[in-house]
Amino acid sequence: MEFWDKVIGFFWGGESLPLLLMVLCIWAMLFHFRRDERASLANTVAFFFVCLFGQFIAGLLHALDLVRAASVAQEVFVIGAGVAVIRLWGQLVFRVVLPAFKLTPPRITEDIFVIIAYIAWFMVRLRYAGLDLGSILATSAMITAVVAFAMQDTLGNILGGLALQLDNSVEVGDWIKVDDISGKVVDIRWRSTLVETRNWETVVFPNSQLMKNKFMVLGRRTDQPVQWRRWVWFNVGLEVAPTRVVSVVEDSILQTDIANVARNPAPNCLLMDMDDKGYARYALRYWLTDLAADDPTDAMLRWHIMSALHRAGIKPAQQGQSLHITKENEKYDEAVHQREVQLRIKTLRKVELFSQLNDAELTGLAQSLQYSPFAKGNIITRQGDERSHWLYIIINGEADVFVDLPNGKRRAVRTLGRGNFFGEMGLLTGAPRSAWVVARTDVECYRIDKEVIEVILHARPGIADEISHILVTRRAELDVVMQDLNATGAHPDLSQQRSEILATIKRFFSLGN
Ligand code: CMP
Repeated sequence: MEFWDKVIGFFWGGESLPLLLMVLCIWAMLFHFRRDERASLANTVAFFFVCLFGQFIAGLLHALDLVRAASVAQEVFVIGAGVAVIRLWGQLVFRVVLPAFKLTPPRITEDIFVIIAYIAWFMVRLRYAGLDLGSILATSAMITAVVAFAMQDTLGNILGGLALQLDNSVEVGDWIKVDDISGKVVDIRWRSTLVETRNWETVVFPNSQLMKNKFMVLGRRTDQPVQWRRWVWFNVGLEVAPTRVVSVVEDSILQTDIANVARNPAPNCLLMDMDDKGYARYALRYWLTDLAADDPTDAMLRWHIMSALHRAGIKPAQQGQSLHITKENEKYDEAVHQREVQLRIKTLRKVELFSQLNDAELTGLAQSLQYSPFAKGNIITRQGDERSHWLYIIINGEADVFVDLPNGKRRAVRTLGRGNFFGEMGLLTGAPRSAWVVARTDVECYRIDKEVIEVILHARPGIADEISHILVTRRAELDVVMQDLNATGAHPDLSQQRSEILATIKRFFSLGN
């Protein structure tokens, strides 16, 4: 009995129980708040218990009268337990308490505080064990000087890392550019900073290099969201007025929500240069919100620019393009044109509305169509727009029809696809556009202008009949959505509406009965 009293007496001092309770409390708190770090936490706590067990062994040695071994073991394990406690406190203060007060000091600060605490704890224990601190300090100063000299580069990097983190010049998550390498900072370590590029490379920059040389933090501006200005270049011949090019491009881009393009500042188009080769150089400048998506967003904007220019009948000029107008080229152009007309006729044949037209009429229609591509998200018609002098036939892709309700909400009406037409309500009755039509995917359309439809309707009055039928059905559907009627609700008299609309169309286009 006396033996175990001796063991416990040596091992379990007055401070042991509070210390154990403290460690368990901190463990519980960290376990709760730092779910992601449970594994490293478990290691620290395990280390503490190993040290506690070590002290118990020291108690055994003491009871066995191995006094010197007992006191050395005791000292070593007390230091070890202290180290574990300091580490736990460091984690508690820097990862739970300070963040609770919205303070997130860089990781390096925690490391520094913890290391200083380790050294202090070491010194205190050595002093306690009767070692002369003065001589230790002198020796350690010497050693430090020698080590510092030998590790100049490493220390430079470490101090660089410290400075980088403390002055906030770069943070994890920033996009930086060093020489021709740009990427996202994923970690700032003691010696180096890791940057992941868009090509899936990880570049390791020694911190001293970042401190000594200049680097760019992309898209960062004080008190502003992260966004980075980019330029998308294109050329248009000098024969087109720059104001027209700028307004065609800006109108299309500003009206469309394009992923990763900031609304504020808004994109803008500028005439940047004029070339002696006969074209003007333009840039669409925009602010990119997701810095990882630079090329895909540029490409999307290029496609928007191309389709907007195309719809406006403006041909982009190519760099280095020279104009050699020869007979051969004329022949070639004619062949291309004929091929395009044949393709259009083939497409038009599949559109039910024009199934009554003969070959000559189809050819006439095909020649007068305007090819109009739209990029995904483009608004094709706007509800209430009074310029409704054309209709569109979809030859590829899909478009959504939406309507604004009187209460300000917007409702989807239906999706139109290949072979469907829209814009007939405004075109045939002269009324403002009844709904929004928005490109659901990239959409290719043929635009048919009023004069062309007029010719067709005069030649084939039956088409007016057919369109009025579709128009009335669509209008009824629109009314259902607008008034929130359900399909079984009020049924207007469709046949009467149809004859009214037919009469309107005939009046509008001066068609006989
Ligand atoms: P318009 O009014 O000129 O412009 C908006 C177009 O949306 C309209 O012509 C129709 O072509 C189309 N539209 C309106 N309502 C419907 C509907 N219910 N189904 C399909 N298309 C519609």
